[in-house]
Amino acid sequence: MIYNRITHEMIAELVRIAGERNVILDPLKLDGFSHDETSREEYGRMPEVAVTPQTASEVAEIVKFANRNSVPITPRGAGSGLSGGAIPIFGGIVLSLEKMNRVREIDYDNMTMTVETGIVTNEINNLVKERGLFYAGYPMSLETCTLGGNIAENAGGGKAIKYGVTSRYILGLELVTPSGEVVWLGGKLAKDVTGYDLVHLIVGSEGTLGIVTAAIIKLIGLPTAKSDLLVLYRSPQEAISSVPVILSKGLIPTAIEFMDRRSVETSCAYLNETLSYAECGAMLLIEMDGGDAAHVERDAESVGDLCVSQGAIEVYVADNRTTQERLWSIRRNIAEAFKVYCPVQSLEDIVVPPASIPSVIPELDRIGARYGITIPCYGHAGDGNLHATLVKDPEMPMEEWKRIEPKALIELYEAIAALGGKISGEHGIGIKRKSYMKRFMSPVELGMLKAIKRALDPMDIMNPGKIFDLEE
Ligand code: LAC
Ligand code: ZN
Repeated sequence: MIYNRITHEMIAELVRIAGERNVILDPLKLDGFSHDETSREEYGRMPEVAVTPQTASEVAEIVKFANRNSVPITPRGAGSGLSGGAIPIFGGIVLSLEKMNRVREIDYDNMTMTVETGIVTNEINNLVKERGLFYAGYPMSLETCTLGGNIAENAGGGKAIKYGVTSRYILGLELVTPSGEVVWLGGKLAKDVTGYDLVHLIVGSEGTLGIVTAAIIKLIGLPTAKSDLLVLYRSPQEAISSVPVILSKGLIPTAIEFMDRRSVETSCAYLNETLSYAECGAMLLIEMDGGDAAHVERDAESVGDLCVSQGAIEVYVADNRTTQERLWSIRRNIAEAFKVYCPVQSLEDIVVPPASIPSVIPELDRIGARYGITIPCYGHAGDGNLHATLVKDPEMPMEEWKRIEPKALIELYEAIAALGGKISGEHGIGIKRKSYMKRFMSPVELGMLKAIKRALDPMDIMNPGKIFDLEE
């Protein structure tokens, strides 16, 4: 698709729609919209203009304008994505939802909140926790990400074993379609089979099928009791092999997070934290929660015993909020810590079926040894969703890295596919992984994705060039 460049006339039109304050041309400010959490050198691209509309009807007018003028639009939340979804790879307009962050309604009778998608995800929980409620669909980056980004990527996070991912909590959406209509999909309903499930087609469509300006989210009761276990193992293999055993016992932890020693050490160094490792090679951070403290404690104890029977050398129980927060902060900051250690890296989010979880580590060891790199690994082991991270050793020459990284990555994806897994369980395809789609998705399935895109966005103006290239 060939797009038009933004002209002075077009800028005047955008100013008429959104107001002068909401049309950004200053290169310094535009720079902030040119990248996300992927490598800026590799994927960054400047928009020609950014707009910060304040209502759904302004968003709709901007989308109509883009269709009339054949310019691409890239919707954007907080820019904390990890697959390049919010990067304007063809220039054009970045449409930032930062000013659409109002709460439209909290409906306690229906246990829903209707909220604009520019809201920072953690704000949602802050608003309802006094009433003993929470929104369980949030990912690890909850303090910085926005609900809109979570919806676009169908974000996961550390609570998915028990609570599921973002899509489970999205009951309805206010969508600006790629042709510029505003439509409400879904509603405050526990069940709805009235036609295709468009809500869940849009959730996870990476901003390619429209712009979600508001959502009806489901709230649930905030668990009053919580217990976290930090379980130390000698080897990553022993730690990860415990996971399917725990999962198959009918105890449902909220989270089973895996962290190899290097991941923990890197995060601790970044946070200026200390943990005593002894001969530990990897850890599991396991959380149990519920409404009854004694019950939660009992279950946590059973999980701890199970871990010991699987070779754990130490089980620490964190039953107060300060220690729990300390441990989770170490876990949450691993990705950021590796970025600080070396920004040249490939942060992966591979996913495998539960029974294949123990097979992932030997594959990482094999691929790492073959290419002379270490592949630290952490992540949502209970979901089979692991952040294997190909990190360039700061000493390794860049040319060498560029030569081996794609090969190692493809070998990793092949190993994961052979285990019945997929290349992305959490961060999405965006631009980072789109070149692998032909290899790891059947032509029929890929054809269905493209047919949907063509039907809904005939002008291909809505976040083009993400997930797949239409022309290929
Ligand atoms: C995490 C992000 C990287 O789990 O998904 O920390
Ligand atoms: Zn994650």
